[in-house]
Amino acid sequence: MNSQITAIGVYAPSQVITNDWFADKIETNNEWIISRTGIRERRFTEPDEYTSDICVKAVKNLIAENPGVTTEGVDFIIVGTTTADQVMPSMASQIQNALNIQDAGCLDIMAACAGFVYGIILAKGLIAAGTHKKVLVFGAETLSKFTDFNDRTSCILFGDGAGVALVEASEKSKIYNTITGTDGSHGKDLYLSQHASVVNGEEIVPNGKIHQNGKVVFKWAIQTITNKVGELLSKNALKLEDLDWVILHSANLRIIEAVAQELNVPMDKMLTSIELYGNTSSASIPLAWDLAAKSGKIKKGNKMLLLGFGGGLTYAGVIVEV
Ligand code: COA
Repeated sequence: MNSQITAIGVYAPSQVITNDWFADKIETNNEWIISRTGIRERRFTEPDEYTSDICVKAVKNLIAENPGVTTEGVDFIIVGTTTADQVMPSMASQIQNALNIQDAGCLDIMAACAGFVYGIILAKGLIAAGTHKKVLVFGAETLSKFTDFNDRTSCILFGDGAGVALVEASEKSKIYNTITGTDGSHGKDLYLSQHASVVNGEEIVPNGKIHQNGKVVFKWAIQTITNKVGELLSKNALKLEDLDWVILHSANLRIIEAVAQELNVPMDKMLTSIELYGNTSSASIPLAWDLAAKSGKIKKGNKMLLLGFGGGLTYAGVIVEV
């Protein structure tokens, strides 16, 4: 059984946080943040607004903006997030209950910024197996609740947001071949731990905040992602020229620019969400997709390469036709 993404919905929290907001609190400034990251602003959730809440709002937007689309018949819910409201129950179960979706399988996946693409790959697999037909896949984060605001190298990066894709069984295959991979030896270069534990043989700081070795992740991302775009294209017997759009995880605009330069792809083919929303981890790809769709860039029949990468360090990529 083939599958396709039939609709996308997003929710961006209403609280806009500018770069100047940080300049009052830590030693930084608007120019540094824009030149080193591309970020102009990001959104933060309210203190009582959690990941499951913004997922539900994203579905409501998806329904409102796509006439005829409903959650009726949804038989599986997958949520890619690293910032769940709580460990148990899963975000997927909370969403099932909030939207009163009957008889849906529910699970969260923890693949950091690659979570949304991993979700699409799992949904494709469930539909290909013939066991499911209509799957909601989320990438959603409330990173501001897990940010160390004393760490100026990381706190300026993160934002909150949610995206959801409806993946349905289809006659024609519109979710093409995929790639996944991980280098767990870099686990301690990007982590978030609530209690004392050991990663790669080293004790890590258990304060429930995101820790990252920005330089290492930056270098790994450029090298890995450049290679993996090539691998994904050859797995699909496609060339860069066959793609209409490329959406890499919006971690840092300089990472996207460096990969585009290595691959010789013009930047206007790269769709991003980093400028307006910061690094929203698993939500960044659907947010970029939605911005481009609303500005009229994405047309029916377009081919797009999606590639998420992050904590693990792990990556997942897929080419889709819209
Ligand atoms: N404001 C002003 N100066 C800052 C700053 C801030 N917010 N944060 C760091 N600096 C300073 C540093 O202290 C350093 O000063 P020094 O040269 O006097 O030591 C200088 O700016 C350069 O710091 P550096 O860490 O080399 O900056 P960078 O160009 O590597 O950018 C990141 C830092 C975090 C933006 C970048 O490494 C990055 O984006 N990494 C990947 C992050 C990522 O993708 N994470 C998620 C993966 S999914």
